[in-house]
Amino acid sequence: VSREVDTSGDEKVAAVLSLVAHELREPLAVIRGYVSMLREGVLDASMRDEALRVIDSKTQEADTLVETILLPARMEAESFGRETSEFDVSESVAQAVASVATHAKHEQATISVRTPPEPVPVLADPDHVCRVLVNLLHNALSYSRGSTEVEVAVRVGNPVEIAVSDRGTGIEPDNRERIFQPFERVGDAPSPFTRGLGLGLSISRRLAELNGGSLVLERSTPNCGSVFVLRVPTAPNGTGPPHDA
Ligand SMILES: Nc1ncnc2c1ncn2[C@@H]1O[C@H](COP(=O)(O)OP(=O)(O)O)[C@@H](O)[C@H]1O
Ligand SMILES: [Mg+2]
Repeated sequence: VSREVDTSGDEKVAAVLSLVAHELREPLAVIRGYVSMLREGVLDASMRDEALRVIDSKTQEADTLVETILLPARMEAESFGRETSEFDVSESVAQAVASVATHAKHEQATISVRTPPEPVPVLADPDHVCRVLVNLLHNALSYSRGSTEVEVAVRVGNPVEIAVSDRGTGIEPDNRERIFQPFERVGDAPSPFTRGLGLGLSISRRLAELNGGSLVLERSTPNCGSVFVLRVPTAPNGTGPPHDA
């Protein structure tokens, strides 16, 4: 299946629908398979437990997919909740790194974190910040080959910058804006963790903007790696020295 999506009107809609259908079919096929084995009674007790576990996780997968498809529209609604507070962005970094631990292990990747010793107060929705960082980390881990290193660095300033660097496949100059468009995917990544709809970066950029920040590809070199930077407004009392990295 080609991961490239044509950008012209009707063809784009058709390509998106076919991508969504394709992505939903996989978990549904697995669920159907296990349900029929359960019905036929061919599984012993321990395999039944395993079947139920898989059915559970595939249902979750399909659910998450549907949620992701609906999220862009929800984000534009007036009622889209934003719970802004002052918090230490280094804590979001730690939380995001922890939540991609399984993926990192699967890729045999190490994630190093560089944060200043003192707290770095920002004003935003902590869930949104964490979500963007998780998306960036999943991408950094996905679009790399073999055991690799990912670095997350917090740069103090106004706004605060969080840079996620990888040594992965990199992005060709022609694709550097395209990757932020919904349903746009480039290249191929076989990891099970990478199966996505090409919505991650468009959702992440919008979340950053809704929080008064931004998300940019700072630099990228094909076959060498990329640096994505999330900017988040500094909390009013938390001014610091200018960016140092
Ligand atoms: N760190 C990265 N290194 C190389 N390519 C990337 C990276 N992050 C994103 N990309 C490219 O941008 C595309 C869009 O990313 P994203 O919106 O997260 O969608 P998805 O990961 O579901 O494909 C990806 O398909 C990939 O080609
Ligand atoms: Mg992604």
